[in-house]
Amino acid sequence: MRVSVVGQGYVGLTAAACLADQGHLVTGVERDPERLRSLQRGVLPFSEPGLPELVFGMTTEGRLRFVRACAEGPQPDAVVLAVGSPQLPSGGADLRQVSAAMAEILSLRESPAMVVVKSTVPPGTSSRLLTTDTRMNGRSLRERYVYSPEFLSQGSALDGWRNPARIVVGTETPSLLPLVEDLYRGIDAPWVLTTPTNAEMIKYASNAFLATRISFINEIANLCDEIGASVDDVIRGIALDPRLGGDFLRPGVGYGGSCFPKDTKALAHLSNLKGRAMPLLESVIAVNNAQRIRVTQLIDEELADRPGATIAVLGLSFKPDTDDIREAPSIPIVSDLLASGYRVQVWDPAVSGSVVETAYPGAVRFLNTRDAVEGAAAVIVLTEWPQVLAADWSELAERMREPRLVVDGRNCLDPNRLVPLGLRYRGFGRGLQTGAGTPLTLAEQAQT
Ligand code: UGA
Repeated sequence: MRVSVVGQGYVGLTAAACLADQGHLVTGVERDPERLRSLQRGVLPFSEPGLPELVFGMTTEGRLRFVRACAEGPQPDAVVLAVGSPQLPSGGADLRQVSAAMAEILSLRESPAMVVVKSTVPPGTSSRLLTTDTRMNGRSLRERYVYSPEFLSQGSALDGWRNPARIVVGTETPSLLPLVEDLYRGIDAPWVLTTPTNAEMIKYASNAFLATRISFINEIANLCDEIGASVDDVIRGIALDPRLGGDFLRPGVGYGGSCFPKDTKALAHLSNLKGRAMPLLESVIAVNNAQRIRVTQLIDEELADRPGATIAVLGLSFKPDTDDIREAPSIPIVSDLLASGYRVQVWDPAVSGSVVETAYPGAVRFLNTRDAVEGAAAVIVLTEWPQVLAADWSELAERMREPRLVVDGRNCLDPNRLVPLGLRYRGFGRGLQTGAGTPLTLAEQAQT
């Protein structure tokens, strides 16, 4: 099948490369001239494990190429739309890129047999698109329209595309199904066949539910800190119940990235527009915002007698294996620390120097963890990069200054390994670890 994929962000480019790998002849359409030039030179505009190699392989074999507009590529049998739907100041989703891409597809000389929208759009968007009289060369868009959301995660995008938990297909035209099957050829996953509106809601509800689990466990972790309980044991005990499971129950500084923050706000906004508040979802968002503030509070408490101390921040991206800092907890945390007068030394293996200069003005960037922690009274881990997990913490401890505090914003380090090295450890829901065995309550900590 000849497929055009409009929008070459991480979903669009992953889709384009994987569809080419599945045997389709793919054209990646990218309007941004700089991003397009970079793709045509074989340089990816963001980091995603395995994707550069796959893009190189597919372009070399002539199965994938990049153009600026749909009309510049060969006439497609199917168009996949994967442009951004960023957040508006109101919290709603900005659908201008979706509308512009759709207008471009509708104006193609010959209309494609199928248009598959993958962009995350608020429930009701497809329905609105289809009720306006959108015709493609005499035939209505409805006859060719599929809404099929994407569930892949940054950092493991290729695996997410190839081995999804499910494929959701929202269409009002069942005769399109053989084409959809051909598009997703080679992917073995259960299908959910439904309407476009339901498919849109599945995407938002999935992200909102995952975000809810994170905020829920963060509340439990905060209470564990108050009463001296260990959230790790609590999670173990929860996770063994098959009704609950253990995924997305890692406490810490909360969720970031281009999806959860934006999608939770967009869903709450949509519901408010319909006259129905979503107090549960609003609380999920509020709990997430508060987790970031807890880091600065912890530092202020622990370093009360050391104004202007040096603090090292290890990890800036919103999760490992990506250079993406959109809505990353590191942005407000670094800015709060600087505003409180601390000197902040940052390290991240993927985020570039120019991005650090723009997004973290005032922070000093280092190229390895050892130099970043030099002279630091506290280290804050904000991304569980493998380099942080595998670091020689005894060497890092030697380079630090009293009180040698480690704030583990991702609960990714083992306090039993760190405390014997003379480090003070603060995780989330793990209490203050002093090596005595059980975590101390907050009241006990105040006395240490
Ligand atoms: C998320 C979803 O997981 C994907 O299924 C979805 O397709 C994607 O959004 C999207 O809508 O495009 P992603 O944002 O790439 O994927 O990353 P996640 O692995 O879900 O992590 C999101 C954030 O939650 C990260 O900041 C991570 O550190 C945090 N998180 C995750 C926690 O704080 N605790 C956890 O237990 C899990």
